Amino acid sequence: MKLSVIGCGYLGAVHAASMAELGHEVVGVDVDVDRVERLSRGEPPFYEPGFAELLRRGVDEGRLRFTTDMGDVAGARVHFVGVGTPQRESGYAADLSHLDAAMTSLLAVMADHPVPGALVVGKSTVPVGTAARLQEWCGSEGVAATVVWNPEFLREGFAVQDTLTPDRVVYGLPEDRAAGEAARDLLDEVYAGVLSHGMPRLVTNYQTAELVKVAANSFLATKISFINAIAELCEATGADVTRLAEALGHDERIGPKFLRAGVGFGGGCLPKDIRAFMARAGELGVDQALTFLREVDAINQRRRQHAVAMAERHFGGSVRDRRVAILGAAFKPDSDDLRDSPALYVATRLVGQGADVVVTDPIALPGLHARYPHIQTAPNARAACVDAELVMLLTEWTDFTGLEPDQLGSVVKERAIIDGRNALDPARWEAAGWSYRGMGRASTTW
Ligand code: UDX
Repeated sequence: MKLSVIGCGYLGAVHAASMAELGHEVVGVDVDVDRVERLSRGEPPFYEPGFAELLRRGVDEGRLRFTTDMGDVAGARVHFVGVGTPQRESGYAADLSHLDAAMTSLLAVMADHPVPGALVVGKSTVPVGTAARLQEWCGSEGVAATVVWNPEFLREGFAVQDTLTPDRVVYGLPEDRAAGEAARDLLDEVYAGVLSHGMPRLVTNYQTAELVKVAANSFLATKISFINAIAELCEATGADVTRLAEALGHDERIGPKFLRAGVGFGGGCLPKDIRAFMARAGELGVDQALTFLREVDAINQRRRQHAVAMAERHFGGSVRDRRVAILGAAFKPDSDDLRDSPALYVATRLVGQGADVVVTDPIALPGLHARYPHIQTAPNARAACVDAELVMLLTEWTDFTGLEPDQLGSVVKERAIIDGRNALDPARWEAAGWSYRGMGRASTTW
């Protein structure tokens, strides 16, 4: 089937390549010329395991192409919309200007080249109410298309896996029953290669589908901030948050995932999604329902500030001219994404306070050089740690969690490490003569 994917950022590019992998003929559209050129050459514009192979195969086999010209989507039956909905520069609300610009040009093409039964399938994370607005917009332009809301739950680092074998598939359909059923059947056809894995496929109305996505991200953010709040209690009392989380996780109703305390969550989704959700609740007059998310956000900010304070305390109050090695720049491992990265927050704060900071990251350094040229970097952990008076592990890449304490100890000036992700074994590092501090971890040997 001929499909288009509008917006070839993280979500859109992976979606386009995945749809081509399923055998569809896919055209990806983006306004960024450089991105389109790279994708057209089969070169991923970001790091994502497994994506390069998919992209190259789709491009080489002629099922996948990229363009800046919206006119090229003419004739497609299904148009996926995966443009960014970042936080507005002022305030917490989502900036829908990319979505509206994409829709304006898409609807112009669809009006000139009508395809019976065409679908516009929204994948971006949007404020509840957006799908209904877009459906109305189609009508007002005389475009006989059905809008479907089909949220995407992909995690960076697992984007291909999460797109081709998601935990669940959600369709938000219009009130018009006949149009909704036809849209559902067509989307089932598009996703046949995904649905064949047998995951649940839930059908609901627009509002529910839109809310599922932000509710899921809010729950995940809450789980992380919950354990980070408990980490604060652990620090105040001498309890150990990793052992506590392990004990909590054995309760099947709680589960062990997303209970890793540390410097908190970052990235392009969780922080901005919970803020946009709060803003939307305010617009809907139900802001009190989500005031707890303000706390979730505040706890999250406190953890990164706490990591900076731990470094200050280590040096007796001031980090000025102290050499600090920072392991990790990306907001999480297996990603080169620096958006709202706790590691980068800590690095820039310490640089701002006059510390002599050296950052290393397995793959995020090119992005770091481009955007933060004043931050010193080193190609690997060993090089970053030469003469360090303090090492801070802030992104738990396996390159770092597998470090050998004695070997690293031979290059540093002082064997002191702050484990901002609770990813190291304290006993092993202490046995090698390191002073080890985690986030909410006790110093007892139990
Ligand atoms: C998230 C959601 O998981 C995904 O479903 C949604 O579609 C987009 O947002 P992503 O941003 O890729 O995905 O990262 P995720 O793996 O969820 O991690 C988010 C942040 O939380 C990272 O900074 C990570 O380090 C942090 N985290 C995660 C913790 O601090 N503790 C944990 O226990 C888990």
